[in-house]
Amino acid sequence: MNLTVIGTGYVGLVSGVCFSDLGNNVVCVDKDSPKIEMLLRGEVPIYEPGLKELIAKNTAEGRLSFSTDISAPVQDAEIVFIAVGTPQLPNGEANLQYIDQAAREIAVALNGYKIIVTKSTVPVGTNERIKQIIGELTTHPFDVVSVPEFLREGSAIKDTLHPDRVIIGAESKEAAETIAVLHRPLTSKIIVTDIRSAEMIKYASNAFLATKISFINEIANICEKVGADVTLVAKGMGEDRRIGASFLNAGIGYGGSCFPKDTHALIQIAGNVEYDFKLLRSVVEVNQMQRFNVISKLQESLEDLAGKTVGIWGLAFKPNTDDVREAPALEIVPALITHGAKVKVYDPIAMDKFRKEYNHESILWSSNAVAAAAECDALCLLTEWDEFVKTDLQQIEKVMDRPILVDGRNVFSQEQIEKTDFTYYSVGRPMMNRSNAQKPSFLNI
Ligand code: UDX
Repeated sequence: MNLTVIGTGYVGLVSGVCFSDLGNNVVCVDKDSPKIEMLLRGEVPIYEPGLKELIAKNTAEGRLSFSTDISAPVQDAEIVFIAVGTPQLPNGEANLQYIDQAAREIAVALNGYKIIVTKSTVPVGTNERIKQIIGELTTHPFDVVSVPEFLREGSAIKDTLHPDRVIIGAESKEAAETIAVLHRPLTSKIIVTDIRSAEMIKYASNAFLATKISFINEIANICEKVGADVTLVAKGMGEDRRIGASFLNAGIGYGGSCFPKDTHALIQIAGNVEYDFKLLRSVVEVNQMQRFNVISKLQESLEDLAGKTVGIWGLAFKPNTDDVREAPALEIVPALITHGAKVKVYDPIAMDKFRKEYNHESILWSSNAVAAAAECDALCLLTEWDEFVKTDLQQIEKVMDRPILVDGRNVFSQEQIEKTDFTYYSVGRPMMNRSNAQKPSFLNI
């Protein structure tokens, strides 16, 4: 099929590239000409494992191209995807200005029947708004279909090529069938719904996953007080198939471009129909509070943070991405500086993006993990990059002024910690250190 994808952010670029890899002819369109120039040179604006190689392959084989012009690609396509951003407005609502603009530009370019697929995460009713905008500007026939995207950063290609399910929200049976044919090579689990339900599935899924994370984080906070171990509690809970083991890793909370934005947007969507989504408001509040537990633990061990040096391992909101949007580090680092600490930071790939968001004279940008820990009074792990998980903690202990480690992602084991003199804080697990060794409470019988 001939496809055009409008918007070359995470969703648009990865979807376009994957559809071309399946044998479709795809043009990815973006107004941002430096970005399109980069892509035409074979460079990739985001860090996503495997993406660069897939772009090179499909461009060389003639199925994938990039353009700043929207008209010709829309006219040549059978299906046009809208994958532009829907950033958060100050009041929490999704900003639909880029969606509206894309709809208007598609309408003006239309030269015959097309299926317009919305992949951007949009509030309930937005696809109807898109239909109205296009309908007012053209006499050509078209259908609007909602196909929400569930890809995760860092595993975006795998998630796109092997999705758990594909949701197709459509009014027209024929349009739904065409979109199903396009997705059939990816999965047999295709669920066709009305448009509003499809829009809601996306928000409800992200809100539920965020709820799981805040739930386990609150359980972790209680575990700390009652002397239980949240990793064992999560393991025990996760074996119940109704609960499931994933998204029960306690830590410093969720970040990224989706969960924070989409939870706020769903609270707003509910509020607009005078429904107070109390549970989701608490999920957001717990997530906000959770990141500052790192500061409390540092204060517990160091008392006054003024004049202390704290090492930070990890700035990205999660590993395998350079994305720092809503990353816990963006709040924790400034908070440490406000408390008078000096901060030595290191992230394998997110340093530049973090620096663009936040810079301060009290930050020392380290070139590797050992350097970030050197001469520090305490070290905090905020992102569970493999590089940190595999570090020899005995070596790290030697370069630090004081052996205090706050593990915000529960990556180190009792065995690793017991080989060191670290005073070790994690999230929802009993204090572990050499002198305070605890017997594991899960016995593998
Ligand atoms: C998420 C959704 O998973 C995806 O379906 C949607 O399309 C976009 O939002 P992403 O933001 O890439 O994807 O990251 P994800 O891997 O889901 O993690 C989100 C955040 O939750 C990260 O900050 C991560 O550290 C945190 N998290 C995740 C936890 O704290 N605990 C967990 O158990 C799982």
